[in-house]
Amino acid sequence: MLPKRRRVGAGSAHSAVASSSPLVPRFPGVAIYLAEPRMGRSRRAFLTRLARSKGFRILDVYRSAAPARAGQCSEVTHVVMEGTSAKEAICWQKNMDALLPGCSQPALLDISWFTESMAAGQPVPEEARHRLEVAESRKEPPVSVTLPAYACQRPSPLTHHNTFLSEALETLAEAAGFEGNEGRLLSFYRAATVLKSLPFPVTSLSQLHGLPYFGEHSSRAIQELLEHGTCEEVEQVRCSERHQTMKLFTQVFGVGVKTANRWYQEGLRTLEELREQPQRLTQQQKAGLQYYQDLSTPVGRADAEALQQLVEAAVRQTLPGATVTLTGGFRRGKLQGHDVDFLITHPEEGREVGLLPRVMSCLQSQGLVLYHQYHRSHLDSAHTLRPSSTMDAFERSFCILCLPQPQQAALEGALHPCPTWKAVRVDLVVTPNSQFPFALLGWTGSQFFERELRRFSRQEKGLWLNSHGLFDPEQKRVFHATSEEDVFRFLGLKYLPPEQRNA
Ligand code: CTP
Ligand code: MN
Ligand code: MN
Repeated sequence: MLPKRRRVGAGSAHSAVASSSPLVPRFPGVAIYLAEPRMGRSRRAFLTRLARSKGFRILDVYRSAAPARAGQCSEVTHVVMEGTSAKEAICWQKNMDALLPGCSQPALLDISWFTESMAAGQPVPEEARHRLEVAESRKEPPVSVTLPAYACQRPSPLTHHNTFLSEALETLAEAAGFEGNEGRLLSFYRAATVLKSLPFPVTSLSQLHGLPYFGEHSSRAIQELLEHGTCEEVEQVRCSERHQTMKLFTQVFGVGVKTANRWYQEGLRTLEELREQPQRLTQQQKAGLQYYQDLSTPVGRADAEALQQLVEAAVRQTLPGATVTLTGGFRRGKLQGHDVDFLITHPEEGREVGLLPRVMSCLQSQGLVLYHQYHRSHLDSAHTLRPSSTMDAFERSFCILCLPQPQQAALEGALHPCPTWKAVRVDLVVTPNSQFPFALLGWTGSQFFERELRRFSRQEKGLWLNSHGLFDPEQKRVFHATSEEDVFRFLGLKYLPPEQRNA
């Protein structure tokens, strides 16, 4: 009687080849059986093709369909399982043993052994962490980890275990944003932020089972990344002229996706081409282009602190008792940023009104202002608590400041003297004291964290949150908060410190 795999493939020469092992396996001592239950048929077929293309011997059946003669054991040396607990694996092996009494047992391995071997192009040594029977305590928690759906319900640290994967998904999100596809942007971004919250590095797709926001597309990208180290779609996006140009243009201060897209559609590709058409540029964009080189260089923490000193001095001089708080990415612990964000307030509500123009002229008199755009406060308008208002109504200035650079004596004789100043983007926002906790929460970010916090408030609590306050539209009442902790409490959320809001 023919073994089963021959009979299955008998219909066509091609499928007979496809379903059997390669003629000369490169690793004679290794015969792998991919156990299907948790893996699924198409995934198993995919992994089989991949392994065979790399010269591995993959057996389609654990043992021949022929009745086992005494002493005829399975040729399988390695059984690979995915998303399977040690308990299930051992149970599976016991059933197989019952059919093949007296045979030596193959190694029971987690899919991580398989993917690492594929990446290495050869079987990697079987370590304890690969072995299902001993790896239970280590493997179980990751597989069964559950995460709440909203990013504001879970910590998102600055550095995490899945940067390589999350960055790939963020590229796809960014590309979707450039195409104006908000839904797609959010899908990819939500999946990326789930990866940021995971307490372990993802090594197998099965670890994502049951996690929120892993749709078909994101899962496919992750699978490719885990197996091949790259994802074709991500690479294509990154290399495309469209993506690179959109990134270049949107990086200019004052240029959003819509403007960048219009320029791209008109055939513009470089900053030089933009500079040649000054009549089409706003004052803000002109400044953005003028200082492009400095502004596209990340701002470091030391620069942020030096700026805080300058701003604090100007604020103190203008209104004694007023305070300056560093917010944005630096408050979340980032070491670099694209700008520096400050909140200004005064403990006595009302004293802060009209403060900013005076602070700006103080900075201007010191020659520190390269560009600024002042927005007066709209706090008197009735719209500040509408859920849809994306821009808050605080008095603010989005500016470019001139930051003097420390001169190092040792470099005095250097060929290229270091520049004596550099242009830095700074956001200054003035808030009445009673709204300060909401403004601090809103301006600390990350942008996506804020978005999630507002979505959570609206969808789960029926409350409207923005940088001015928290509003209950049914009872028509506002909440009074004296700290960020208060706001989390009102929303029934566990408090997350700024360093855990890096979604
Ligand atoms: N923000 C806002 N209104 C704006 C601009 C920004 O409320 N018009 C908020 C954003 O939602 C974010 C925070 O201010 O939560 C900081 O924004 P931004 O400076 O753009 O980002 P950072 O997180 O600070 O990142 P980076 O370090 O690159 O500056
Ligand atoms: Mn910032
Ligand atoms: Mn900012």
